[in-house]
Amino acid sequence: MKFLLIGDIVGSGGVEYLKTHLNSIRNMNGIDFVVANAENSSNVGKGISKEAYETMYSCGVDIFTMGNHTYNNKDVYSLFDQDCPIIRPANLPSVNQGEGYITVDIFGTKITVINLMGRVFMNDLIDCPFKKADEIIEKVKDETDIILVDFHAEATSEKLAMGFYLDGRVSAVFGTHTHVQTADQRVLENGTAYITDLGMTGCKNSVLGVKKEIIIKKFLSGVNQYHSVDNDSISLNGAIVDIDQSTGKATNIELVNME
Ligand SMILES: [Fe+2]
Ligand SMILES: [Fe+2]
Repeated sequence: MKFLLIGDIVGSGGVEYLKTHLNSIRNMNGIDFVVANAENSSNVGKGISKEAYETMYSCGVDIFTMGNHTYNNKDVYSLFDQDCPIIRPANLPSVNQGEGYITVDIFGTKITVINLMGRVFMNDLIDCPFKKADEIIEKVKDETDIILVDFHAEATSEKLAMGFYLDGRVSAVFGTHTHVQTADQRVLENGTAYITDLGMTGCKNSVLGVKKEIIIKKFLSGVNQYHSVDNDSISLNGAIVDIDQSTGKATNIELVNME
């Protein structure tokens, strides 16, 4: 089966890009299943709005993962209440609303998607993502065919460590959060597809999706500025992973970088 994994979708520009192009990307590449990180998909680039969710779901995203911006738009609470296929980092303490993994059945194949968040340079108050991964894999491994892990993290070391830690136990580990695509995609020794970061679906002439002038001003002044998303010149970053559903092993991973 072919999986399209899409890096952090930023703002209405990112959402509109999917609305216009996702169907043809799916058809041209024979994609069976799409996972997208939607933590920046609201108009202001933080959280997910009902409108953004509905647009992305109806144009072909199957599962939505989140990250440190999960709760920045209040619409997410009602989307969780309605059992929309949106997951939030599993290692956030359980007082927080939402599930950290989801299993769906596609053409008789069971696919589990797990969302985890890193602690290094991010949030050291959350639970250990490595132990949480063990816990979830132990729960689902006998009932599912394919496990995909979105590790939403800052540090390349933490992401690589997770890739090697889960190699052979899951079908893919892909990083999100930095909004910059890495070129280290490969299938690890024991059959897990890995990439440190998928990148973003947003304005390529921006700083991580935010208007570049704003971030340059922040660095020159040393003072935080009000952020505004740039919706021009959108490119889609991600990866396509081939997985043998009979073994759960990945056979190939390729970068996706489209304008
Ligand atoms: Fe992000
Ligand atoms: Fe993030």
